[in-house]
Amino acid sequence: MAGISRRNLLSSGVALTASSLAARSAWGRAAALLAGYPQAASAEALAAVAPREQLLFDFGWKFQFGHGSDPARDLGFGYGQGDFAKTGQFDFAKAKFDDSKWRALNLPHDWAVELPFVHDEAQNSHGFKPLGRRYPETSVGWYRREFDVPAGDLGRRIAVEFDGAFRDVLVFVNGCFIGRNDNGYAPFRFDLTDFLSYGQKNYIVARVDASLGDGWFYEGAGIYRHVWLTKTDALHLGKWESYVRADLQGDAAKLTLSTLVQNEGKQAENAKVSWQILDAAGKTVATAEAPAQSIEVDGAGIFTATASLAGPALWSVETPNLYSAIVTVETTGKPRDAERVSFGVRTAVFDPAKGFFLNSKSIKLQGTCNHQDHAGVGAAVPDRLQWYRLAVLREMGCNAVRTSHNMPTPEWVEACDRMGVMMMCETRQMSSNPEGMAQLEAMIKRYRNSPSIVLWSVGNEEFLLQETMAEQGAKIAATMVRRCHELDPTRPVSSAVNGNNEQGVSDAYDVIGFNYNLKYPDDFHKKHPQRPLYGSETASAFYTRGDYSTDPLRNTESSYDVNPAKWGETAEEWWTFYATRDWEAGGFMWTGFDYRGEPSPYGWPSINSQFGVIDVCGFPKDTFFYYKSWWSAEPVLHLFPHWNFEGREGVEIPVWVHSNLDEVELFVNGRSLGSQKVPHLGHLEWKVKYEPGVIEARGTKDGKLVLTEKRETTGPTVAIRLTADRTEIDADGEDVAILKVEALDKEGRPVPTAANLIGFKVTGAGSLIGVGNGDPNCQESDKEPRRSLFNGLAQVIVQSTKRPGEIHIEAAKEGWDGPELTGAKVTITTKKVEPRPAVALSPPTRFS
Ligand code: GAL
Repeated sequence: MAGISRRNLLSSGVALTASSLAARSAWGRAAALLAGYPQAASAEALAAVAPREQLLFDFGWKFQFGHGSDPARDLGFGYGQGDFAKTGQFDFAKAKFDDSKWRALNLPHDWAVELPFVHDEAQNSHGFKPLGRRYPETSVGWYRREFDVPAGDLGRRIAVEFDGAFRDVLVFVNGCFIGRNDNGYAPFRFDLTDFLSYGQKNYIVARVDASLGDGWFYEGAGIYRHVWLTKTDALHLGKWESYVRADLQGDAAKLTLSTLVQNEGKQAENAKVSWQILDAAGKTVATAEAPAQSIEVDGAGIFTATASLAGPALWSVETPNLYSAIVTVETTGKPRDAERVSFGVRTAVFDPAKGFFLNSKSIKLQGTCNHQDHAGVGAAVPDRLQWYRLAVLREMGCNAVRTSHNMPTPEWVEACDRMGVMMMCETRQMSSNPEGMAQLEAMIKRYRNSPSIVLWSVGNEEFLLQETMAEQGAKIAATMVRRCHELDPTRPVSSAVNGNNEQGVSDAYDVIGFNYNLKYPDDFHKKHPQRPLYGSETASAFYTRGDYSTDPLRNTESSYDVNPAKWGETAEEWWTFYATRDWEAGGFMWTGFDYRGEPSPYGWPSINSQFGVIDVCGFPKDTFFYYKSWWSAEPVLHLFPHWNFEGREGVEIPVWVHSNLDEVELFVNGRSLGSQKVPHLGHLEWKVKYEPGVIEARGTKDGKLVLTEKRETTGPTVAIRLTADRTEIDADGEDVAILKVEALDKEGRPVPTAANLIGFKVTGAGSLIGVGNGDPNCQESDKEPRRSLFNGLAQVIVQSTKRPGEIHIEAAKEGWDGPELTGAKVTITTKKVEPRPAVALSPPTRFS
């Protein structure tokens, strides 16, 4: 479909078969959308500019489970309580410790997704995984790695930086305790300079304890985001202290530039800071300098300057133009440290009477809330998969995401910046206590240069702070909002409130968000016409992909848009409400993707939610096309259900169409069942007595046939089809290919009800890192090389190694009697690339 614009579809008068488009949409199309974007060079890696070194610290770790209550099975940790008595006494972080029997793995790593499911109601919200203090054997993990530090690094500052881990982390280097982290989402870093052995081998160990949780949804376990080793001069820029504020004034943008320089060297330094502003093509478009300052030993200085961009290319949803600023601190003409800050020029305004404006253009937030896990890999989502997920959302017309309910991974924000998706960026802990404030500050400093972020959120549904503790809630919210404004005066602050927003936390907010409760906004708007409003969380309706009956015995919810949670709304209900009120800025529906945990509306054996309009693999459900109809500019015609209802001949089946065309006519085995006008923001429905054969929808616009779509009764499965999103990926040990597995009948038509167990064999220059099928009730392993199809589909994710070559993926029926299936084979080429700088492996292993 790439290259086919809405205009030429309409003007050509050619009727395209929408079934092929629908099948490819959000799959091939998401891949096509991604083609224009560079392979995810993560923001962290891009940030480093010589002489700074930013080395990926993901490869070549050893891992072993510890124990939450038995020191004997926890490397002796906690035995006799003398652990922190003397610095340097942790032998497991020294050379002589033997980790040869530990498992070798690369980060990011989520061990929760590897664990079996347990039927323990208390573990329901985290997806029935054996984690928590009652599961000491599987709740603590130890990561260990040897690494070299060259003698030449002496005098530099060296820090280990974690983008996030779940959850309580103790870090040790060379026998010394270095520091701790106590939350699952904020980044944390430790300066290792004093603890390293220069010109020698060094040992880092992280004890990760996932016994305590932050949320009521699947959160994973382990070091599930990237780790970096950063080396700078002793005179260096402060972490996340550089910002660029772009203020659009007429045809020019005034840039306010600021950074902080720290001197951890042995003498005072006369430091100067300069900024080089580059456009997207890498051309220098402005420069600025701040006057030199003397910085004492152990002191710091703030440097500021301004610059102007004439006729800047604006960041928008359609054209996500980015600029970058290279910030350099120098002494006597010699660069000492430098970093790249990516930013955009745009205005984003919440207007209480007219809704939301991006660059003075009215636009609704067509938003989705999402958690951060994916099929097969859990919370350890490879960068490319983050981009893939966003591309699927974009394909639906989604132009905004909310990072419910935690600080996002840097790659998710970077993907939004580059793909033109706006973001409501949310912190996890709503509190003005030191931990809550530290999380909030890290989030704002880390992401305040990202043009995609249009709103900060300090929390979600803090019922106590809204109601019985409203007095404390008001104070906590006010303190958090004040700090947001100090660190970033350019963006409004909000939180997701499930209530009437009349008391407690709400007074403090710049913009008021309502979760659900369509009964409140009209009155609130009348009473407070000066306060901008949006839907911070909406919908919460249930759908099982490809299933058309709600059946509590099977834990399924029909895919028609008719099953809101009792506190929620259908897609059509909430979007009609928000789309028809000018003063509403739009909203964020719950959820774009299904996620593990919170297995609503059913419990065990369901292990994931069914709120998504996209399943955990990224396969769209039917309601995806409701949103696409009203959120995208493309012509849409989506007909459902499938037409395989053997044994239900003569039974009335609701046939729905989601479309944004003018009129649709439905045919059953060639007979017209009449034409209907598409209601604005609605859908179409016919009741059809089932007979095998073909149903066909024909959609017209301005009297011309624009799209048709068919559903045909298929025969049984005789073959498997494997389709990769890309057949060439990077040989960098990180890139992934995402394969769709389908069942076909003898005429090559996808069988929409197929449930066959398929085995996979992956050989060559890559490995299988996860499988899934989107079934909320499937308890098969995410890691084994086999998976049942769920309503005709499954997914396989394979990852490259650093050796260029070919990955061969074969699919065949496995472990069941019955008719033979023709298997499938796909080859993915992994091409040689310059991998991003990484901490060398010593000794070289199979990961190198
Ligand atoms: C909301 C909550 C979400 C999710 C959702 C399910 O109240 O903010 O995290 O639990 O309900 O409908």
